[in-house]
Amino acid sequence: MNKNVIQQNYNITVNERRQQNKHNSLLIWFTGLSGSGKSTLANQVEVALHEHGLRTYVLDGDNIRRGLNTDLDFTPEGRKENLRRIAETAKLFIDAGVVTLAAFISPLQKDRENIKQIVGEDNFIEIYVKASVEACEKRDVKGLYQKARDGEIKNFTGISAPYEEPKNPDVVVNSEKQTIAESIQIIMDQIKTKLELP
Ligand code: PPS
Repeated sequence: MNKNVIQQNYNITVNERRQQNKHNSLLIWFTGLSGSGKSTLANQVEVALHEHGLRTYVLDGDNIRRGLNTDLDFTPEGRKENLRRIAETAKLFIDAGVVTLAAFISPLQKDRENIKQIVGEDNFIEIYVKASVEACEKRDVKGLYQKARDGEIKNFTGISAPYEEPKNPDVVVNSEKQTIAESIQIIMDQIKTKLELP
């Protein structure tokens, strides 16, 4: 970091924004394979929180990679930088008082640790959306697993790039065994506790 760049402080703090919103802000991080159900769950959880009157926003892998991170690839370095920028973005959203949901494969433990460190452990909930490669490949909603098998996509998570299961996630939902409604209930229970919602 350039030593001539100096932190500027403003009068309105995160706590004042939280007070005005009447709720805490938080990053709810969904990790899992492509096709595991991260975006579906993030979407539905946002709807539930929105209906509770909370200020929310979703950061989504495909969407962010089509804009902010369009210059990044799926090499380990590309993913690391992708996730670092998302974490810094999420940190701004948390500072703005928003309950932020993020759906990214985020396959490596060290990159997920880095996200937690950037936003602060107290502001972070990790949700592992568990599903086997076989199940995700069978769903193949976007046809990407087929392309990866055909060699058209390199570094594809679960096929030609690793996915490390989270070591100590706050919540695990299994999209092969639980319905979407069941998973949302489990996730909402955890979020309500963390946000001290009724
Ligand atoms: S990462 O690993 O966290 O940086 O990935 P992320 O930003 O979440 O982007 C994942 C989405 O990109 C599409 N896609 C790929 N995924 C994995 N590996 C490779 N090589 C790849 N190429 C493109 C895919 O649609 C992912 O979206 P989801 O929603 O996970 O299916």
